[in-house]
Amino acid sequence: MLDSIKQFLGEIEHFASHKKEEIEQFRIKFLSRKGIIPQLFEDFKQIPSEKKKEVGQILNTLKVKAQEKLDFLLQKTSENDEKSKLLDLTLPAESLNVGSRHPVSLIRNEMVEIFARLGFTVSEGPEIEDDWHVFSSLNFPENHPARDMQDTFFIEKNGDINDVLLRTHTSSVQIRTMEKQKPPIRIIMPGRVFRNEAISARSHCIFHQVEGLYIDKKVSFADLKQTLLYFAKEMFGEKTQIRLRPSFFPFTEPSAEMDISCNCNGKGCNLCKYTGWLEILGCGMVHPNVLENCGIDSKVYSGFAFGMGIERIALLKYHIKDIRLYFENDIRFLSQFR
Ligand code: PHE
Repeated sequence: MLDSIKQFLGEIEHFASHKKEEIEQFRIKFLSRKGIIPQLFEDFKQIPSEKKKEVGQILNTLKVKAQEKLDFLLQKTSENDEKSKLLDLTLPAESLNVGSRHPVSLIRNEMVEIFARLGFTVSEGPEIEDDWHVFSSLNFPENHPARDMQDTFFIEKNGDINDVLLRTHTSSVQIRTMEKQKPPIRIIMPGRVFRNEAISARSHCIFHQVEGLYIDKKVSFADLKQTLLYFAKEMFGEKTQIRLRPSFFPFTEPSAEMDISCNCNGKGCNLCKYTGWLEILGCGMVHPNVLENCGIDSKVYSGFAFGMGIERIALLKYHIKDIRLYFENDIRFLSQFR
């Protein structure tokens, strides 16, 4: 008898459950009227009196332990019940990891917003273009070295305006818009562009641009300058200054390159290579040939155009060190732009 009591003691000690049915099974097995413990007390009457003291003690312990275990487990389950009743359904849900936009998309959207405040709407066009819309209509003479500024990938090449190629700038969308719409025209053209440039073995030939076009009567260079100054201040801060340097593009005359003042305030730093200025875009007055190529009377209308790379703007705005980071899809980089 002593042995079986010890075995039951071990069983009771190790029993654990949070399920009400299992706890009830435990109670029935050991403590109910026909359970093991009352049965043992019944058997106890039969044992010789010299053993009664020893067995009696351990039998009592068994009973106490079983009751304690039962009380403990019942208390636990009812506490859990209370807790689940107290669940606050208004608590915020666990947050989901929703990801973030690519810095190029962020800057693109910001540019679209800034120019929208000046009345510019977004125009888009195909990435696979023809020679006419990318080069010839934009006043790139055939075989002119200006074409070397923007070498591209050809899909079909016969050496005429029907060549099929990847667009090197979104200026092609200017042409497509002017061909089908009469001035006033005030659009910006964000999009992906392609150039055949082997800068380094790992460099990419795909980037993103936002170009702008404003055609109306009496549009002047002063309008261009004011528009770009507004953009620079909105994008880089109120204190930003701009500088225009003469340049050349076949499709604009006069043409300029625009710099913004560097954050180092002209003191000179690594970013501006100790010049105090950072180049950000090309611009100019739309060449009369371009207007005429699109059926717009250049004696009545004039306009300006500008174009910039989104990667470069993002680089300057977010102080990104290496342009390759844009294409590596490294979450550690991308998740910093929330
Ligand atoms: N299309 C030019 C480029 O990609 C940018 C530009 C647009 C310059 C409009 C002047 C006017 O380099």
